[in-house]
Amino acid sequence: MTNDISLGELLRQGTEIFRNTLVPQPQQTASLLVRALLKLDLATLIAHPERPVAEADAERVRAAFDRRADGEPAQYIIGVQEFYGLEFKVTPDVLIPRPETEFLVEIAVEFCQERNLAAPRILDVGTGSGCIAISIAHALPQAQVWACDISPGALAVARENALRNGVAERLKFVESDYLSAFLGNASGFSASDRLDVIVSNPPYVAEHELSGLQREVRDFEPVTSLVGGPEGIEGYVNLLETAPAILAPQGIFACEVGFTQAERISQIAQTLGWTCLKMTDDLQGIPRILTFKRTEH
Ligand SMILES: C[S@@+](CC[C@H](N)C(=O)[O-])C[C@H]1O[C@@H](n2cnc3c(N)ncnc32)[C@H](O)[C@@H]1O
Repeated sequence: MTNDISLGELLRQGTEIFRNTLVPQPQQTASLLVRALLKLDLATLIAHPERPVAEADAERVRAAFDRRADGEPAQYIIGVQEFYGLEFKVTPDVLIPRPETEFLVEIAVEFCQERNLAAPRILDVGTGSGCIAISIAHALPQAQVWACDISPGALAVARENALRNGVAERLKFVESDYLSAFLGNASGFSASDRLDVIVSNPPYVAEHELSGLQREVRDFEPVTSLVGGPEGIEGYVNLLETAPAILAPQGIFACEVGFTQAERISQIAQTLGWTCLKMTDDLQGIPRILTFKRTEH
């Protein structure tokens, strides 16, 4: 005779905790945590609700329920997030990859494929977990990819993710304040070897907006990955001003923007000698990815 709790009862407890604490999608969240922590697939969880869970395992799962109920995103609790069909380690040093950012990967990959670039050279600025750079390198086996970030902690996670996804040989990670290391010829990067694509999902929240973000983001994701400066657009201005020095004349600069920023960034870009080739909508129909090339005179 055992007093172990059953899988189904543990799931029910989690769902109830999340319902009471207003965590979105209570049952899915409980199911995700139970499966990830007990290393079970969904079919097993559904087919065997009666299966007993050892007390120590149940305690681990309940601790995870408490963390999520206190606002911590499930991805930091289980340590992974899927992006562009690949699995990425995530820690509190990196932003959790978002689905809309996959469009940025798609744009870079399509640009290189449409132009039949044999060995495209690509830079991802503010790489975080490395999700953009690594997904591009994975999709384009001939590509040479650089990825930079100002955060050494983020770069350490990104390096692990490159190894995990089998692209570490074609990726160079550089600690850099935006493009400064690349403009200064540091890190073995030669500015004369121009880049075909520069991509970035820079921090874009204005300082005064930080306190209004949902607690999962504000209290748990790294501030460096969120706040772009007093107005939130400082990163874009920096990149639009400095990228021409290392971008090939026919190359593109593609960036993700905050959900109210597309028009403003596009206008600033125009004054700095860029033409907006397209604005790509996210899944809610909001323009979120801007693709630029240098304006021809
Ligand atoms: C919005 S997050 C994007 C992370 C990742 N690329 C993604 O899409 O999930 C912005 C990233 O830019 C980095 N960052 C912030 N300021 C920077 C700077 N001045 N230079 C380089 N990277 C910076 C942050 O550390 C963070 O990893």
